[in-house]
Amino acid sequence: MRAGRFKTLRRAAQHEALKLPAASQSPPPAARDPALAGRFGPRILALADQLAALSESRDGLTCTYLADAHRAAAAQLCEWMRDAGMANEIDAVGNVVGRYAGSQPAGPTLIVGSHYDTVRNAGKYDGRLGILVAIAVIDDLNRAQHRLPFAIEVIGFAEEEGVRFSSAYLGSSAVAGRFDLQALQARDASGVTLQAAMRGAGLDPDAIPRLARDPKALLGYVEVHIEQGPVLLQEGLPLGIVSSIAGALRLAISIRGEAGHAGTVPMPMRHDAAAAAAEIVLLVERRCAAVPDLVGTVGMLTVPEGVPNVIPGQCELSIDMRSPDEAALRAAVADVMAEIGLVGARRGVRIETRELLRTPPVPCSPRLQAQLADAIARCGLPVRNLVSGAGHDAVMFHGLTEVGMLFVRCGNGGISHSPLESVSAADADLAARALREFLLHSGTVA
Ligand code: GLV
Ligand code: MN
Ligand code: MN
Repeated sequence: MRAGRFKTLRRAAQHEALKLPAASQSPPPAARDPALAGRFGPRILALADQLAALSESRDGLTCTYLADAHRAAAAQLCEWMRDAGMANEIDAVGNVVGRYAGSQPAGPTLIVGSHYDTVRNAGKYDGRLGILVAIAVIDDLNRAQHRLPFAIEVIGFAEEEGVRFSSAYLGSSAVAGRFDLQALQARDASGVTLQAAMRGAGLDPDAIPRLARDPKALLGYVEVHIEQGPVLLQEGLPLGIVSSIAGALRLAISIRGEAGHAGTVPMPMRHDAAAAAAEIVLLVERRCAAVPDLVGTVGMLTVPEGVPNVIPGQCELSIDMRSPDEAALRAAVADVMAEIGLVGARRGVRIETRELLRTPPVPCSPRLQAQLADAIARCGLPVRNLVSGAGHDAVMFHGLTEVGMLFVRCGNGGISHSPLESVSAADADLAARALREFLLHSGTVA
C-alpha cells in the first residue's frame, strides 16, 4: 500500500457524512439489563477456539492467505454468518462478507470488519475477535427480529498481516478501492504469484476493482479488535476507544556482499552481508529508542543458504517503523535510510531497499468515538481513549468513510502476535454488548 493511493482517495471521498434516520422500532433490552450479561462472551471464545483449530501448522495457529486452513476458516465464517441471519458470500479477494439488511432498503451501510488471517504462531483473537463479536451481535438482533435503519456488512477480511506475499491489507484495500494491482505479481516463498494463488483458490483477480464500495452509500467503518498492548490491562479497563492509529513504514532490504571462506579471508578484507545487516538492526533500534512513541523492528533476517563456514554473501531483512507522529516517522525513516547508505559504502556491500507498506497515521472519527463512548457508558463502564500502535484494516477506510475502533483488553501482560494472546469471556461479552449498544443507538446520538 503506497502513500500516493491514499492521497488520491482522500480527495475523491470528501463527501458529507451520512445522517441516519431514527431507529424504526423500539430497541431490545438495554445494555445494563442483567438478562444480557454473559449472553455473548462464552460463545465468542468458543467460536475463536473452533476457528483456531484450522491451522496450517501442526503446533499452534498459523493461517496465511489462501492456505487450506485459511480457506476452511472462510467456509466456517460463512456458515456462522448464515446462521446469524446474514446473506453472505466470499468475494473476489477472499473476504467473507455477510450482509444484515436494514429496515429501509435504500438505507446506508455500516461496515463492521476485521481480518481472519494470522501471523505465524499467532494468538486466537487478533482480527478474529472483531468478526466473531459482530456475528454474535447480529445473531442476537436477528433472533429478536430487530432491523436497524441501516444495513450492516460484517466483513472478515482475508488478509491483513502481509505474511505470505509481503503485501498487507489485501482484503480491506480491495473493499476500500485501494488494492494495488501490481501486488498480483508478488511471489510467496515458493515462487507462487499472488495472482496464481488466487486463481488456484477459485478467486477472480480481474474482479477486484469491482469490490470497491461507493463512499456515498457508507455510513462508516467500525472495527472491534483486541488491544494487543498493556494499557487497558494496566488501568483495569475492559474496553477502550481508539483515537488514532499509528502510521507505518515497512521495507524489504536485500544486501549483496561477497561470499568467501570463513577460515581464510582476513577480517579487513571481508564484505560480510550479515555483519552489515547486524549494523542495520542496531541502528534501527538506536534511532527508534531515541524518540517516545516511535518504534522500529527487524522481524525478518535471513542468510539465504547460509552455512557456518561461508562468509555471508547475501542477507535479507525487513524493517518496520511506526509512530502516531507523521513528522517523527518521516524524520526517522530518512535518518535510517541515510545510515544504511553509509553502512553499505563503508563495508563495500550493495544494499537495495524496497518499500512494502506506507500508511499515514489515521485519526478516528470524533463522531464515531463519541458514539462508541456513549455505548461503553451505557454498559456502565468508564470511557478511555487510546492510540493504536498496531495497524488495522480500519486504516484502509480512512478518507473513504469515517472510521471508529473499539479496543478489548488483552490479557497476559498485553502480549499479542503470540500464542500467549488472551481475552476473557467477560471482556468479549462486554465488547459485544457495547457494539450492540452502538448499533442500536448510533444515529440517535448527536
Ligand atoms: C498488524 O498486526 C500490524 O500492526 O502489523
Ligand atoms: Mn496482527
Ligand atoms: Mn489485527
